[in-house]
Amino acid sequence: MSDEKGFGLLKGKKGIIFGALDDRSIAWRIALACKREGAEFVLSNAPIALRLGTLDALSEATNAPVIACDVSNDDEVEELMNNTKEHLGGVDFILHAIGMSPNIRKKKEYSDLNYNWYQQTLDISAVSLHRVLKHAEKTGVINDNASVVALSYIGAQRIFSKYSDMNDAKALLESIARNYGSRLAKRGIRVNTVSQAPTKTSAGTGIKGFDSMYTFADKIAPLGNPSADECADYCITLFSDLTRKVTMQNLYHDGGFVTSGISEEMIDGLVKLYADEE
Ligand SMILES: NC(=O)c1ccc[n+]([C@@H]2O[C@H](COP(=O)([O-])OP(=O)(O)OC[C@H]3O[C@@H](n4cnc5c(N)ncnc54)[C@H](O)[C@@H]3O)[C@@H](O)[C@H]2O)c1
Repeated sequence: MSDEKGFGLLKGKKGIIFGALDDRSIAWRIALACKREGAEFVLSNAPIALRLGTLDALSEATNAPVIACDVSNDDEVEELMNNTKEHLGGVDFILHAIGMSPNIRKKKEYSDLNYNWYQQTLDISAVSLHRVLKHAEKTGVINDNASVVALSYIGAQRIFSKYSDMNDAKALLESIARNYGSRLAKRGIRVNTVSQAPTKTSAGTGIKGFDSMYTFADKIAPLGNPSADECADYCITLFSDLTRKVTMQNLYHDGGFVTSGISEEMIDGLVKLYADEE
């Protein structure tokens, strides 16, 4: 419903949105939905992404300033929080939509990981959530009763071989969300992860075998794979006041994939495939 009028669910709320690179990015779709629902926010991405991406167009469309920040750099994250404070005062929501694996990019198998790159995967894709929350709290930019959402993937629970060290990064990300969520709860701040189905974005399609993973999930999930816009709508509910007691959860947004075994369509297809082989 990205083009529709919205419900004003985030009216008066302010936030930080990390991870919009181009118009396929889940964070991009979430930014548009936040705007639709009446929020004001800053956009942030790594300096290199700002040079390669098209974030200026989103900034214009949502009237949101862009603040460069490499989330693996402690000083830059602190500076971003201070800059945000200057722009917005306090924030009521934060979206962490950041993931990157040099090992996957450079086609290193899991049994032959480059350990420096492995650390970068964990640092950028997971530890960065810790860093963001630490500086959000230390600088005082995060308001009481704020809502923090980080995007995850079912590779945290079940191994998808092509997802390699990102399986590990997502498991760590989800753990940090729970751990920090328990500490921030005294201020009414909630921290959750949304486990999104395969989605055709720059990060997603960069994974070898992505198309098969996408089709597999789509065929098994009774509702099919949700789009980035549908993910955005779900995140809006988590940023809104309608979910004030939801915290420390990993919430599946996957069309029912996680609790499905196999679909009728796949049973029929597999029987036919193996019958043809015999
Ligand atoms: N696409 C999928 O299939 C899928 C499924 C489930 C979860 N997710 C997660 O959703 C999130 C968003 O990914 P996406 O699919 O929209 O792809 P995307 O490529 O559009 O977004 C990933 C973002 O991470 C940013 N990033 C990388 N290194 C950074 C750094 N050092 N500092 C700051 N930002 C950095 C990139 O610039 C990019 O904007 C990621 O956490 C991803 O793992 C994606």
